[in-house]
Amino acid sequence: MKRVLLVITGSMLALCLHAQGDFSTKKHGFVHKSSSNYEWPTDPQVLEKLDQWQDLKFGIMFHWGIYSVPGILESWGLSSEEYFTNCRKKIAPNTPYGEFKSWYWGLAKSFNPTKFNPDEWAEIMKRAGFKYLIFTTKHHDGFCMFDSKYTNYSIAKGPYKENKYSNIVYHLFNSFRQQGFKIGAYFSKPDWHCPYYWDPERATPNRHVNYDIKRHPETWAKYKQYTANQIDELMSDYGSIDILWLDGGWVRKPHQDIDIDNIVDKARKKQPGLIVVDRTVVGRNENYQTPELSIPKEQRTHPWESCITLSDTWGWNPNPKFKSATWVINTLIEITAKGGCLALNVGPTSEGIIEEPVIKRLKTVGEWLNKNGEAIYATRPTSNYHQDKVWFTAEKNGERLYAIYALPEGEKLPEYIEWEGNKPKGAMYLLQSNKRVKYTWKNGKVKVGLPKGIKNEAIALSFKVDKP
Ligand code: GLC
Repeated sequence: MKRVLLVITGSMLALCLHAQGDFSTKKHGFVHKSSSNYEWPTDPQVLEKLDQWQDLKFGIMFHWGIYSVPGILESWGLSSEEYFTNCRKKIAPNTPYGEFKSWYWGLAKSFNPTKFNPDEWAEIMKRAGFKYLIFTTKHHDGFCMFDSKYTNYSIAKGPYKENKYSNIVYHLFNSFRQQGFKIGAYFSKPDWHCPYYWDPERATPNRHVNYDIKRHPETWAKYKQYTANQIDELMSDYGSIDILWLDGGWVRKPHQDIDIDNIVDKARKKQPGLIVVDRTVVGRNENYQTPELSIPKEQRTHPWESCITLSDTWGWNPNPKFKSATWVINTLIEITAKGGCLALNVGPTSEGIIEEPVIKRLKTVGEWLNKNGEAIYATRPTSNYHQDKVWFTAEKNGERLYAIYALPEGEKLPEYIEWEGNKPKGAMYLLQSNKRVKYTWKNGKVKVGLPKGIKNEAIALSFKVDKP
C-alpha cells in the first residue's frame, strides 16, 4: 500500500510540474467579487483598530498547508465543480476523483517543515517593510496549521509533531508580534475534511455542505459547534489577534448559517476591537473589503485591502512566475493612493523556506520603503489623487501631501515631473534625501525638476498645501 501511494505521489508531482501554469491565480476561473456596499462598525474599539490598521498599508499573507508539499492548487482540487475537475484532470489525468481525494488528504503524512524558523520569517518580512500578517490557520481542506483540540488533522499531529515549533500558528504569531506586526488569522469557514460539513458517506459535487441541513439539523449543529470551537481556541490560546480573516463566503445565512454574529461577539470578548473580515458577506462582520487579485478602479473611502500573489499561485509552486520588486512598489503606491492596504501573498515551501527570489524582491521593496515610507505608511487618501504616473497621498491629520512618481518597469526617471492642482505651499523635498527640490507653479500646474544622478526608481516628494 505504501509503495502504491508513493508511486502515485511521485507521478502526480511530475505531472504538477507540467501543469502548474494552468492553476495560476490569473486563470483561477473565479475570483471573489467584492461588493461596493459597506457597513461601518459601531464598536468604538473596532473603529480605532481599523484606523490603526489603515496606517499599516502593507501586509504579508501566507498560504501554507499540505498543498505546499506537491506544490498544487490549494484545496480546490478536492472540489468536483466543473472548473476544478478540469484542473484536477491536469494534475492527475488517470486518477479517479475518489483516489485523488485520498491522496490529497494523505499529504498530511508527508508535511514535515523541518526548516521552518518563525523568527527568520518575521525578520525577513520586517526588513521588507510589512506591518501586518495574514496567515492561513486552516484552508478549505480542513488541515489545521495549529494544534487544534478538536481534530487530529493538523500539523501538530503528523511527522512534525515532535518539533519545537509543531504548533506553527502559535510560534509564527509570537515571532511576528515580537517584530511589531499586527496579527491576522485567515480561517476557512467551510471545512471539507470535517464529516459534519462533507459527510464521507455522500458525494461531494461542489464546495457546499453535502447533505440537506434541514433533514439533518443535528449534524449541522455539530458543524457549527466545531467551527465556533476552533475560532474560539484561536482567539483564546494564541495571544493578541487583530484580524480574523474569514474565507469561504458561501457559508452564510440563510442556507449555511453558522451563527457568525455569536462567534464574532464571543471572539471580541477575548480580543477587544478585533477586526473581522467575513469576506464578501456585506454587513456588520465585513469590517473591510477584500478585492482579490485586483485593485479597485477608483479610490474608496471605506476600509479595503487587495490580496495579491507575488507569484502566480497562492501556495508554493515548483515553477513560479514572480512579479518584480518594481511591480510590488508601484502596486503599493497605487493602492495607498486609492485608500487601501496591500496584502501581498507568498507561498513558503513545504520544508518551511521562503525562497531566494522572494527574499531578493522583498529586500528591494524594503529598501525603497526605508527611504520613501513616509509617503505610504499612516497616510490617508486625498481627493486629487492621480495623474498619469503620479499618485498623491496625504499626511494623516496634517497639511502635507506626497507626490509619488511610480516609475514603470524599464523606464528612466524624467528630468521634470508635472501635475495639475495640489498647489504646494513653501518648500518641497525629495523624501529619499530630504533635500529641497525646485519647482514652479504656472497656470494651475506644478513642474518639479529632479536632481541628477538619483537612483532609477519610484521617487516621492513631500510638500505642504493649504488644505489636503
Ligand atoms: C481565492 C482562492 C482561495 C484563496 C483566496 C485568498 O479565493 O480560491 O483558495 O485562499 O483566494 O484570497
